[in-house]
Amino acid sequence: MLVAGNWKMHTDLRAADRLASEVVRLTDADARTVDVAVCPPSVWLEAVRERVRGTRVALGAQNVHPEEKGAFTGEVSATMLSEAGCTYVIVGHSERRRHFHESDAFVGEKVMQVMKHGMTPILCVGESLEERDSDAAETVVGRQLDGGLIGVSLRHGNTLVVAYEPVWAIGTGRTATPEQAQAMHAFIREKLAARFGAEEPVPILYGGSVKPGNAAELFAQPDIGGGLIGGASLDAEAFAAIVGAAADAARN
Ligand code: PGA
Repeated sequence: MLVAGNWKMHTDLRAADRLASEVVRLTDADARTVDVAVCPPSVWLEAVRERVRGTRVALGAQNVHPEEKGAFTGEVSATMLSEAGCTYVIVGHSERRRHFHESDAFVGEKVMQVMKHGMTPILCVGESLEERDSDAAETVVGRQLDGGLIGVSLRHGNTLVVAYEPVWAIGTGRTATPEQAQAMHAFIREKLAARFGAEEPVPILYGGSVKPGNAAELFAQPDIGGGLIGGASLDAEAFAAIVGAAADAARN
């Protein structure tokens, strides 16, 4: 189980510093049972690294550019993120797909680049409300997985996390029901098994309005391997409660 906090474009330096310290303090016991990561804005990576260094909380980034280096004004490379202490990198978040027009192929290049640098990509997939209503959810998620995993091998120590985040559940307060989430997770699990073999342990996180009040029932589903938490990850106590729910699920 992995619970990762996606801070998005929130926090100032002081708030990031304080939030990281609080997350370390409040999740320390449960982080023996589940993996915990925080993904601050890239300019705060260094500061947050100082807070999580030597603790059980890992550091993640929210985005990366697929090229090694070069004339890509404003972008951050995998080498930079690795050097900044990241273990995880979120790629293909729906906000990046929507606002920055990232294609499945571009997301796939990022996945490869993150792995090449020894970090774990958290590949986000998920359908819009329109797509769900027109029964295209599996088609869309299947296409995002195929595109995002082109050329990817899980040999040579490469590790991968997939996050299913239905776009209609992100930041809306509207969560997928545990049954809806489980159904899509089972579909993703099948796709991953066909691609990598059934024995590959790829955690599939659920994301989209996960809160302390709904985390336990989501994490009780057999194919839900943790959560990618947006809004609730900005509140250390709420985030820690979600980590606690994952630890309980892992123990059962
Ligand atoms: P939310 O965001 O928890 O605020 O819905 C999840 C995400 O976008 O990763």
